[in-house]
Amino acid sequence: MKILIIGATGTIGKAAAKLLSEKHEIVAAGYSDGDVKVDLGNPESIKAMFEQVGEVDAVVCSAGLANFAPLALHSDQDFELALNNKLMGQINLFRIGQNYITQQGSITLTSGILSRQPMPGSASISMVNGALESFVKAAALELEQLRINVVAPGFVKETMVMMGMDPSSGISAADTAKVYAVAVNGNMHGETLDVIDYV
Ligand SMILES: NC(=O)c1ccc[n+]([C@@H]2O[C@H](COP(=O)([O-])OP(=O)(O)OC[C@H]3O[C@@H](n4cnc5c(N)ncnc54)[C@H](OP(=O)(O)O)[C@@H]3O)[C@@H](O)[C@H]2O)c1
Repeated sequence: MKILIIGATGTIGKAAAKLLSEKHEIVAAGYSDGDVKVDLGNPESIKAMFEQVGEVDAVVCSAGLANFAPLALHSDQDFELALNNKLMGQINLFRIGQNYITQQGSITLTSGILSRQPMPGSASISMVNGALESFVKAAALELEQLRINVVAPGFVKETMVMMGMDPSSGISAADTAKVYAVAVNGNMHGETLDVIDYV
């Protein structure tokens, strides 16, 4: 399969690209680096990426920006970033990308465990994660030629280390990547794949 991975230069995306490259051809997309560059927050940029890459068998998105902030300090910009980038960025990736994905291909998006296990500071992230999971469930009802799923990572060990946290309760990027491979290689449709269920 030819697989386009958006966010392939990131913590999760790099591990997913490494794993999936064992059996598939990977096109790596990032914001500032990669085989192709894209800004999820800009639909024109998404169109340009697909024009450049052409037809693919699968799209994996392990990108999407949203900020942690105490609810009382959540600004308009915090909500806009979560809505425009992590939520609509990935939905636009599907809307534009479906014209470039081969029949019976797939698109796998990324939400996160904070949709169902929120923590203080996660309001806008939890909001868009939940919306993504509901979107995927509903969209699948109308998609016969394309599978759509969403992976919900837990806290990634490497990210916790970067944040100066104890990583012992985290899940490694390599283990998280395995769940993207399950979504790409499997036959599920409209599902949220919780990484904690796979480790
Ligand atoms: N890491 C965790 O613990 C964790 C837990 C739950 C959910 N998640 C979710 O998993 C996804 C990936 O997380 P991560 O930790 O792997 O992130 P990351 O290490 O920060 O990597 C982000 C990736 O997205 C790209 N990117 C940044 N801004 C972009 C934009 N505007 N348009 C397109 N691509 C953009 C980056 O490209 P450049 O490198 O070129 O900037 C990079 O490839 C995010 O949606 C995150 O919310 C992560």
